[in-house]
Amino acid sequence: MSDILLRDKTASRDVDSPAVVNRKTDANIRNPKKIFIKTYGCQMNVYDSERMADVLSPIGYAPVDVPDDADLVVLNTCHIREKAAEKVYSELGRIRKLKEAKLRAGRPGMTVAVAGCVAQAEGDEIMRRAPVVDMVLGPQTYHKLPEMIARVTRDQDGVLETDFDTLEKFDNLPATRNPKGYSAFLTVQEGCDKFCTFCVVPYTRGAEISRSVEQVVAEARHLACKGVREITLIGQNVNAYHAVHDGADWGLGELIQHVAGIGGIDRIRFTTSHPRDMDDGLIRVLGDEEKLMPYLHLPIQSGSDKILRAMNRGHTYAHYRDLIGRIRETRPDIALSGDFIVGFPGETDLDFEQTMKCVAEIGYAASFSFKYSVRPGTPGASMPCQVPEDVKQQRLQALQNLLYSQQTVFNKSLIGRKLNILVEDSGRQDGQLFGRSPYLQGTHFYGDVNLKGRIMPVTIADAGKNSLTGVLA
Ligand code: SAH
Ligand code: SF4
Ligand code: F3S
Repeated sequence: MSDILLRDKTASRDVDSPAVVNRKTDANIRNPKKIFIKTYGCQMNVYDSERMADVLSPIGYAPVDVPDDADLVVLNTCHIREKAAEKVYSELGRIRKLKEAKLRAGRPGMTVAVAGCVAQAEGDEIMRRAPVVDMVLGPQTYHKLPEMIARVTRDQDGVLETDFDTLEKFDNLPATRNPKGYSAFLTVQEGCDKFCTFCVVPYTRGAEISRSVEQVVAEARHLACKGVREITLIGQNVNAYHAVHDGADWGLGELIQHVAGIGGIDRIRFTTSHPRDMDDGLIRVLGDEEKLMPYLHLPIQSGSDKILRAMNRGHTYAHYRDLIGRIRETRPDIALSGDFIVGFPGETDLDFEQTMKCVAEIGYAASFSFKYSVRPGTPGASMPCQVPEDVKQQRLQALQNLLYSQQTVFNKSLIGRKLNILVEDSGRQDGQLFGRSPYLQGTHFYGDVNLKGRIMPVTIADAGKNSLTGVLA
């Protein structure tokens, strides 16, 4: 349901009139409006932020790197943990000061929009708590941005849009994209039906949907035409992807193989997968498809069956371990990464030890680990036996010590190896280049700037916890 909150927004009478907003005029091509988008959270938000810029480009908005002179500021927010959500309000405080300073100096102010998962979860509260905000827009409404800007301008009212029709969004986003580099995200699946008891995503992103094969392939071809060589297919449960294509049921495996057939696309990745949806077809493709990079993010969250049950993950540790065994048999060079939560309600020392044992047994090349954060409205929030903060902190420390040492050992195991690096950008030092290895590690080496966009063999000379360095082979 969309909703309009009436409020005097005199301070934001600074954007184009609706007639101008809806048309690409010579004036705004010559003198583009500036849009600043700040992105928090996951890859889905990174993709969405790019798409917001794509939606606004035909009506004369060009992206800028700092908010100071922007005509439109968008905060694309994340609600996954309490800290992530809090950041929005502190950032809004800074934006308010910027806007007030501009108005005091007699310059046009700025339109301020809050998008993303906090917008979806707390839209009304944002409107109430932060009068600087002109627009609140949920993740499924970005195709309506021009219309919302027009409404704010015309009516001087705050606009709150939290419709939930994901397919409508994808049907209405522009066909063109303006990728920034040689690697791009492509959303193929959005939303989640799994309802893990700690997680807000099913509430902020809605039910699981998959985009059609035609749409995904058209977007991938377009990216290839724009020089993109690596595509990461993304979804909250990307391996739950399913679609009917030419009368047949397609899963993520079939989709990957199809995308791999597109000329110009040399590398494919996918994230985030759920252990329950990791089927044999996809595992086979992991073994067969050379363009698929040997890196898999497969979160387990906890090594304790009791905690996995309380989290509603729908599988046991043994299931996960067997799954990893089969994946490694099929693709022996695969590097694994995972997500972990410590201090979920009811987690005892013994449960935590089982998580440590899981990490020791499985072995991770990379990881993301978090203290459990109580999220309002999720079942975990009202569970008994919440774990005290200091215990969570100690457990996180111990877990990260183990995970980071595994990561360092993995990175160092690559010293002396020749890896193909997709050169994405210049490095910090003069003459230095930056790219990504097949295992996703950032890699620095010296070389000609013309190598950007190429996949180059690099011999790894040194490795730390977070990155590699090497020399052109
Ligand atoms: N769909 C993915 C995860 C999406 S959220 C999956 O099922 O694995 C990304 C990660 O954030 C999760 O894997 C989890 O480790 C972490 N996370 C989610 N909710 C959290 C919470 N309430 N507290 C702490 N970490 C959380
Ligand atoms: Fe959240 Fe679980 Fe869905 Fe992942 S599978 S998005 S953790 S509810
Ligand atoms: Fe955050 Fe929403 Fe992604 S809550 S992790 S931005 S799906």
